[in-house]
Amino acid sequence: MPENEASVVPFDGAHLSGVLALFAAEGWSYADDPERTCRALTAPGSTSVVALSGDSVVGVAHVLSDGEIQAFLAVLLVGEAHRRRGIGERLVREAFTRAGAQRMDLVSCVDSFYSRLGFRRVSAFRISRDELGPGRSDAE
Ligand SMILES: CC(C)(COP(=O)(O)OP(=O)(O)OC[C@H]1O[C@@H](n2cnc3c(N)ncnc32)[C@H](O)[C@@H]1OP(=O)(O)O)[C@@H](O)C(=O)NCCC(=O)NCCS
Repeated sequence: MPENEASVVPFDGAHLSGVLALFAAEGWSYADDPERTCRALTAPGSTSVVALSGDSVVGVAHVLSDGEIQAFLAVLLVGEAHRRRGIGERLVREAFTRAGAQRMDLVSCVDSFYSRLGFRRVSAFRISRDELGPGRSDAE
């Protein structure tokens, strides 16, 4: 199938090995534990889509959303050999539309990609559980 005919479809378990291969190629921790990644991609409030070229998974996007107002683009990845052919843009559009929210935030590693799509720049903060330290939490 020509690259420009890659299809974007909802993620299901049959796509897991292809998605893990994409994560592994980037060295992302999503590749470390297949079952955890499958749970993450299908967690409540998740919209996960994959780009397929023939039977091969060539891209993945994961959006977390309340389904009404707010969404967060948690994962966007296109396999290196398939980049700059519009697949990343299609994944973002499809996942955002399917998530049903009015707006979407993200933490960017590729500013020009998101700027071109029309995202506006705002300030973002990120912390890991380890970095937050023990402190006081009623949840623990
Ligand atoms: C970012 C990423 C998803 C883009 O996917 P893609 O399929 O190549 O994106 P598209 O083809 O839809 O790109 C659309 C436009 O965005 C811009 N763009 C895309 N990647 C770019 C890059 N690396 N640098 C600068 N501009 C970029 C270009 O303007 C491009 O249009 P053009 O090819 O006509 O110039 C892909 O490069 C990727 O997976 N990178 C590694 C993982 C990553 O960084 N994910 C995002 C985490 S925030």
